Amino acid sequence: MDTDASPENDRVVIFDTTLRDGEQSPGISLDQGEKLEIAEQLARLGVDVIEAGFPVASQGDFESVQVIAKAVHGPTICGLSRTALADIDRCWEAIESAEHTRIHTFIATSEIHMRNKLRMTPDQVKAEAARAVAHARSYTDDVEFSPEDASRSDFDFMCEVLQVAVDNGATTLNIPDTVGYAIPEEWAERIRSVRQRVKGDYVISSHCHNDLGLAVANSLAAVQAGARQVECTVNGIGERAGNAAMEEIVMALRTRADFFGGIDCRVRSEELARSSRLISRLTGYPVQFNKAVVGRNAFAHESGIHQHGVLTERTTYEIMDPSVVGAAGSEIVLGKHSGRHAFADTLRKMGFDLHGDALNQAFTRFKELADRKVQLTEEDLEALVAEEVGDTVRYRFQLVSVAARVEPGETAQATVTLEVDGEHRTAEATGDGMVEAACAAIKDITGVEGRLTDYSVTSVTGGVDALADVALRFDVGGRAVPGRGLSTDVVEASARAFLNAINRAVRIDETGVADPAVDRPGSLDGV
Ligand code: KIV
Ligand code: ZN
Repeated sequence: MDTDASPENDRVVIFDTTLRDGEQSPGISLDQGEKLEIAEQLARLGVDVIEAGFPVASQGDFESVQVIAKAVHGPTICGLSRTALADIDRCWEAIESAEHTRIHTFIATSEIHMRNKLRMTPDQVKAEAARAVAHARSYTDDVEFSPEDASRSDFDFMCEVLQVAVDNGATTLNIPDTVGYAIPEEWAERIRSVRQRVKGDYVISSHCHNDLGLAVANSLAAVQAGARQVECTVNGIGERAGNAAMEEIVMALRTRADFFGGIDCRVRSEELARSSRLISRLTGYPVQFNKAVVGRNAFAHESGIHQHGVLTERTTYEIMDPSVVGAAGSEIVLGKHSGRHAFADTLRKMGFDLHGDALNQAFTRFKELADRKVQLTEEDLEALVAEEVGDTVRYRFQLVSVAARVEPGETAQATVTLEVDGEHRTAEATGDGMVEAACAAIKDITGVEGRLTDYSVTSVTGGVDALADVALRFDVGGRAVPGRGLSTDVVEASARAFLNAINRAVRIDETGVADPAVDRPGSLDGV
């Protein structure tokens, strides 16, 4: 993809880091199938660059980046790498088969990081940056360099490092507010000053974290100051309080084109709502109801005066048309008489190309739901597919049956059957309520201990026969692992969500991907 963008130019490159910085959110652990599905959706969304992962971090990360590089067409596929030459080699190995490649290398330039984390002198950092960029350039002519913790770095020193990066071939200079410390005016000034100070031909980029809730504001201020790439994630997921939310940046540029002087990007905004739902389901991170652009209340009008206003003339209280972000009402697409062919065909039209086992499992799940629910909408199908795109999971849900507590003092009872390594296992348990009893039975079968913390039920679409969508968190050994589950029945949706969290916790234990000390060498805290 042509990512050429200069400050004179009126296009901003959208660099998506959902699969790298976003995936570093606590408790998120995506498998290869899930990452590929997300990357394909990002390509449909029209992002310019997908930062697919951090290949040296683990064999799993490496393979996921490689699969994405081979299969996803359109966007540039970028891998993150520290400055160590062996890391850059590994990064290149992962991305080399992509249509368009980029290596993103970084090293911290703040006093605090150099002293405590890197244990390097400023001169050593400068030399590392020069060597890494030159090495990356021997593989590809698209090389990005980031001075980590830029917002707390000495400006003069940071510019010296940026200058050596450009002199050695960096084509994008990304300025990260790693710890979410910047304030919009100050950030704009930093971006503007870098442009003035660092000579050469490069695109300037902004990468903001949201610790003070300013990531989007800072990113937009950077664009005004000349940045022509913004790094962001869908739904703003990411380390700690997250990264800048892509949907907010895109819609601010579009809705306030008058203010931004027509600076735009290539994102197909009609795909924003669907991208948000997919990422939310696969990561288990719910989207807050009042989240700008993609929250379920983003276009809801509660007060009578507002409702009347919108019914008379939509723009009275709406600055964006819901259909522009793909948030218009979901259409009914299939019912219980629909066959396998119609099912696969509808999914294909929606952009999901499922084959083999994934298609079989999704179809079986569709039949189960369609037998209980009269008609399924596009959103129901999306939710269903998201349950099936992952790689094989350890425990598969089969059945739950419950007996409610009738009198105070009595306990509810649940019997749960799971498939474990091809065999069915059943357990019975009691609890204060039916959900608690079902979760206790699941704990019995899996042997995974922990504490259920957050729990919420919503519906996928409206109406009394809507699918229940349960989101919860399960605290295993001090780590809050999210889970999502879907069913026409709330207890079953809860049991599925609980099992989803358990499968995720088991995967994290097996791969160690969520443990920076084990798998992200060289202390990448805050990266
Ligand atoms: O936040 C950060 O500093 C990063 C860099 C790797 C760009 O994620
Ligand atoms: Zn970051």
